[in-house]
Parts: sequence; structure tokens; C-alpha cells
Amino acid sequence: MKDFNGKVAVVTGAASGIGRALAVELTARGARLAISDVDAAGLARTAELCGGAPHQQILDVADREAVHAYADAVAATFGTVNLVINNAGITKFGTVDETPYADLEAVMDVDFWGVVHGTKAFLPHLIASGDGHVVNISSVFGLFGVPTQSSYNAAKFAVRGYTEALSQEMLISGHPVAVTCVHPGGVRTGIVASATSSVGTDMTALRTLFTEKLTPTSPESAAQTILRGVLARKPRVLIGYDAVAMDTAVRLLGPTYQRLFASVATRVLGALAPRPVQTGAHR
Ligand SMILES: NC(=O)c1ccc[n+]([C@@H]2O[C@H](COP(=O)([O-])OP(=O)(O)OC[C@H]3O[C@@H](n4cnc5c(N)ncnc54)[C@H](O)[C@@H]3O)[C@@H](O)[C@H]2O)c1
Repeated sequence: MKDFNGKVAVVTGAASGIGRALAVELTARGARLAISDVDAAGLARTAELCGGAPHQQILDVADREAVHAYADAVAATFGTVNLVINNAGITKFGTVDETPYADLEAVMDVDFWGVVHGTKAFLPHLIASGDGHVVNISSVFGLFGVPTQSSYNAAKFAVRGYTEALSQEMLISGHPVAVTCVHPGGVRTGIVASATSSVGTDMTALRTLFTEKLTPTSPESAAQTILRGVLARKPRVLIGYDAVAMDTAVRLLGPTYQRLFASVATRVLGALAPRPVQTGAHR
């Protein structure tokens, strides 16, 4: 793919944040767009910002049958599909011990299974296009673990493994589909505002910390970086200087990064850091 002009691009989770910025940028670059989300009002606003009426649909990426039907419908509408960006995501806060299975499953359903559904449903159409690209949004939390994010860590590490395996399969098979796994650092979006916690975290303080201190990158800049990575056919894209710095630190430190990050998390997050565990307290 040399540019996006006339290409059919699919973006999930397009009602907010990085997904919305991708939709707006792809429209500006002449792509024919299919956007989806569970948030109807936000999706309508994104369509408005795209200055027209792109193909839009309420879609829960965790719903396997719905995603497969959606992929076939998009391909039928446009005649082809070139680019799929599996972007929809959520997070929840909680220690391993205190996080209920329901929270862990909810994060895996969207952040991991949502990516799997989008990938498998669209892959035949991308292969048929002769010029396809899959972009799966992981996180820097798919490169290293952090306290209170075990569910999100599990999902984002899984996305990375799944996507890197797919990338190699496309190379071996010779299918005309490039594959990119994206690892954003902190991006100023609504993801923490819509998050919940099972450990009594002060979410108001956390949202302020996230917005003011932990998110050096704007959604628009993140979208530009992702699309640059697609055009360069990069297998891995890091977003933000924070992502680059932390990825480098983890490589240099090896597994000992865990002690360092634990002490930094305790200091930076203060009262937000995990309390001593109450074994078996929550199921
Ligand atoms: N913001 C960050 O700092 C950051 C860092 C690393 C990775 N990410 C990842 O970037 C992606 C985009 O997140 P964002 O930061 O723009 O957050 P966001 O909350 O602004 O946007 C996420 C969108 O996904 C949608 N969504 C949630 N559940 C859904 C479902 N079941 N089906 C369809 N849509 C659903 C939401 O309605 C929302 O519009 C996510 O995968 C997230 O994990 C974000």
C-alpha cells in the first residue's frame, strides 16, 4: 500500500480516542471508511468529523458472529477491503488477587478476542484484495507487566503473540497481506475515564494523573504514527517517547525491570498502588 487514496479501511472502536483520530486522518487521505463502535453517539460524532457518511455500524467486537457478519457486509458494500485496524479496547484496574473473573473476562473479550475476531473475519477479504494490511493495537503493556493491569497485560501480550505469528504466516504463505502490531505509550484518550477498578482505586485521581502526567501523545499524533508504520510495512510500531524509553529499559534490564517498575509504581501511584493482598477475597 503506497497511500490510502481509494483504499477501503476498517476501524473498530472509532467513537473515541485513537480510533476516531484514525478515522479522521484516513478520510483526509482519501480512504473509503467503515467505522464501528458500541457507542452510538460517539460513532455519529466521528462520522460527522469525517465530513460525510462513512459506512458506520454499532458493533461489539466481542460478538464473534456479529463481527464475521460485519466483515462480509463491509466487503459486499465496497467490493473489497484493504486495511483493518483492530483498535477497540478497554481496561480495568485491580490486583490479581482482588480482580473478579468477570473483569478479567471482560477485558479479554474486547482486547484479545475482539482482535482475533476482527483478524479472522477480515483476513479472507484482505487476501482477496491483493493489497491488504492488518493492524492490531496492543500497548506498551504488551511489552512489559505493570501492577494492577494484569488483565490488560494478559490481553495485550496475547495480541502481540497472535499478531507476530500471523505476520510470519503471511510471509511464509506469500499472501499479499502486511501485518503491524502497534504498542502505544500514554495517549490522551478516554480509556481511563471509562475504566473501572476492583480495588478501591481513587479513579478521579487516577484519571487526572493519566491525563496530566502519563500521556505525552495526542490521539492525532498516534494516528499519524500508525499510518506511517502501515505505509512503511513495519511489523512493530511504538508510539511516543515514553514507549521507546520503556521498551529500551526493559530490553536492557531483562527480568530485573520488575523490581524497578514495582518501586517506581509504588512511588508514582502512591495511594493508587495495590494494597497488601487478601488471598481469595474475590472470585
Ligand atoms: N490511550 C492510551 O494511553 C493507550 C495506550 C496503549 C494502548 N491503547 C489502546 O489503544 C486502543 C484505543 O484506545 P483509546 O486509548 O483510543 O481509548 P478510548 O476509550 O478513547 O477508545 C476506545 C473505543 O473502543 C470502544 N469500545 C469499547 N468496547 C468495545 C466493544 N466491545 N466493541 C467495540 N468498541 C468498543 C469504546 O466505545 C471507545 O470508543 C485500545 O486498544 C487501547 O487498549 C491506548
